[in-house]
Amino acid sequence: MDIQWFATGAGTIVLLYIVYQFIQIVWRIIGTYVICQPINLKRKAGANWAVVTGATDGIGKSYCFELAKRGFNIYLVSRTQSKLEQTKKEILEKHSDIEVRYATYDFTNPSPNDYQELLAQLNDVNVGILINNVGMFFDHPDVIHKVEGGLDTLANVAIVNVLPPTLLSAGILSQMVSRKTGIIVNIGSAAGSVPMAGWSVYSASKKYISWLTATLRKEYGHQGITFQTITPLMVATKMAGNPNTSFFCPDSDTYAKSALNTIGNSSDTTGYITHQLEFEMMNLLPECILDVAVKRSSNELRERALAKNKEKLLQ
Ligand SMILES: NC(=O)c1ccc[n+]([C@@H]2O[C@H](COP(=O)([O-])OP(=O)(O)OC[C@H]3O[C@@H](n4cnc5c(N)ncnc54)[C@H](OP(=O)(O)O)[C@@H]3O)[C@@H](O)[C@H]2O)c1
Repeated sequence: MDIQWFATGAGTIVLLYIVYQFIQIVWRIIGTYVICQPINLKRKAGANWAVVTGATDGIGKSYCFELAKRGFNIYLVSRTQSKLEQTKKEILEKHSDIEVRYATYDFTNPSPNDYQELLAQLNDVNVGILINNVGMFFDHPDVIHKVEGGLDTLANVAIVNVLPPTLLSAGILSQMVSRKTGIIVNIGSAAGSVPMAGWSVYSASKKYISWLTATLRKEYGHQGITFQTITPLMVATKMAGNPNTSFFCPDSDTYAKSALNTIGNSSDTTGYITHQLEFEMMNLLPECILDVAVKRSSNELRERALAKNKEKLLQ
């Protein structure tokens, strides 16, 4: 009798746990991307300026346009002066009612003194939103001792992916804390949620982003500041090798609009509904199957990148 009671109790607990997990998965997909309405970003941010790093291409540039559309002044931060000027011009052509400034910074430079100078410029305005978007990947996935560019590349990927969200958040938070409003979005990657062979430093640095954001949320979340980690899968940008768009691979404009709509509704999400679907399926797979899938897609990326490099050499 006792054993029967125990078995029924244990079975009920397991069943409830499975139902709970299932509801959570459905909520992360449908709740975040279909049911929840976008919040009033201006009110949550509490100030008119949005700072975006890696702002001259891909996801970062699309965030800039989407934030400009929502009435924010934009502070672009990136490394190439001509692309910054061009991006500023393009934004103002479309949104003449806002202000756009830019700062040139190469984020492979880890000098705290140079960061102080950059922060002095950025703190000249009231920053409502900070989008820590800049990121760097290898030319193609490979095992760590064979990564194209060797130690230089490994060091740069670690520095570019880790330092900007750390130091810029630290340097801008004081104005947000005294205002008791602000939003910090850190762009990680789904590659940071599982250890991915061939992606070593990139995967590890993106794990750092999620961990850093979660820690900052615990430190400052109760002071009116919103922290969000965004973990995209494939978006059709230069970094991803400009693949064709598809159901699972949106263009950067579609992606940024969707990701911005999740601020305030989800603190850690992929940013796009079909990415969330893929991500949830990925998490249900046993690691050994996931490893095989990662290996196959890494091989495809490597072959595509090597073929492109060969083409360039022949031109
Ligand atoms: N695309 C994807 O499939 C994907 C997937 C997961 C996560 N992500 C993440 O999303 C973020 C944006 O990626 P993306 O695909 O949009 O990249 P992207 O199209 O290659 O654009 C990168 C942007 O960052 C700037 N940048 C690169 N290195 C820099 C440096 N050392 N200093 C200053 N600026 C620098 C680039 O400036 P220049 O124009 O001067 O080069 C450009 O504006 C990254 O954090 C990435 O890890 C992307």
